[in-house]
Amino acid sequence: MYKASDTRYKNTQLRHAGTTGLMLPPISLGLWRNFGSADPLSKRREVILHAFDKGIFHFDVANHYGNGHEDYGSSEELLGRILHDDLKSYRDELVISTKVGYEIHDGPYGIGTSRKSLLQGINDSLQRLNLDYVDIYYAHKYDSTTPVEETARALDDIVKAGKTLYVGVSNYDYPEMKAIIEQFKKLGTPFVLDQMSMNLLNNHVEESNLINLLKTNGAGVIAYGPLCEGLLSDKYLDGIDDTSFIHHTNQKLLLNGTAELVRKLNSLNSIAENRNQTLSQMALSWLLRDPVVSSVIIGTTDIGHLDSNLKALDNISFSKTEISDINDIINK
Ligand SMILES: NC(=O)c1ccc[n+]([C@@H]2O[C@H](COP(=O)([O-])OP(=O)(O)OC[C@H]3O[C@@H](n4cnc5c(N)ncnc54)[C@H](OP(=O)(O)O)[C@@H]3O)[C@@H](O)[C@H]2O)c1
Repeated sequence: MYKASDTRYKNTQLRHAGTTGLMLPPISLGLWRNFGSADPLSKRREVILHAFDKGIFHFDVANHYGNGHEDYGSSEELLGRILHDDLKSYRDELVISTKVGYEIHDGPYGIGTSRKSLLQGINDSLQRLNLDYVDIYYAHKYDSTTPVEETARALDDIVKAGKTLYVGVSNYDYPEMKAIIEQFKKLGTPFVLDQMSMNLLNNHVEESNLINLLKTNGAGVIAYGPLCEGLLSDKYLDGIDDTSFIHHTNQKLLLNGTAELVRKLNSLNSIAENRNQTLSQMALSWLLRDPVVSSVIIGTTDIGHLDSNLKALDNISFSKTEISDINDIINK
């Protein structure tokens, strides 16, 4: 039977989601890719339990995650199994988030953020996760066919029903975010986080002024894909053969071709080396230098990578010269 390490909180540096009481570890673990039914449960269990032993108490999933169209929901099921078999007695320590909005089943209510999609979506997620409640429930993407008033009210009702403690949104751009925040305010909904694609090479959240909107409203941003799906690691310093793994939110990095991108990665890697960090560690530190970033959600199937990424927390400050050198590289 699993027993968590007694030292799991020894080095945890807590961060708050905006000005709220929701506390998160600086590095969280996401179960998007490689945590579906086709993946080896025992190996994924090892990674999840190892993460918890190291103070990562936040796990992020979505109803849509799994190995493709026939497998939606299976990442929740995988996590649900571990929550039931191994982590049941630690439930009060865990922050579990899930999302609704991308496709989960056929028909118009298997996608989007209508009241019906949300109210049945949370029940199905809770069942797969073996939980009575989640800590954060997200609208996974903006749904232009449903008024934000309806989505906000349905999320608020889910809070009132005790099925989630907090709510968040993901992939909302500035106008939609502003509109839904107004609704949350009217309803008194505990809105805490915007989950956005954010990494050293993709600063859309800051450029679009979303950061200021969140700051002004006491919410935080939680960065997904902080390693640009592994691009910001030592894997691609010698070249990129296949770019199919790169998320649509990062596709513009390929505009000047892969050779140019690899050149940038190597320039960034030189700065990381001077900081005694790997490129992945520096990429995570870079995001965490601003406290509005409540956590960064990494994806990994490798305990060695997880431990190495955690070392990013040893140095999350940057000198003026480092900031200016990095900006020169990424803005070219
Ligand atoms: N809201 C949304 O729309 C949305 C979209 C995408 C993702 N997300 C969330 O964000 C989470 C993370 O996304 P992501 O998987 O794209 O994150 P990521 O951490 O940017 O990329 C994961 C990739 O990086 C590799 N990696 C991690 N650490 C490494 C290291 N030290 N050295 C070399 N390679 C390393 C992993 O390979 P190994 O397995 O070999 O380590 C994996 O291929 C998801 O699981 C999900 O929870 C949300």
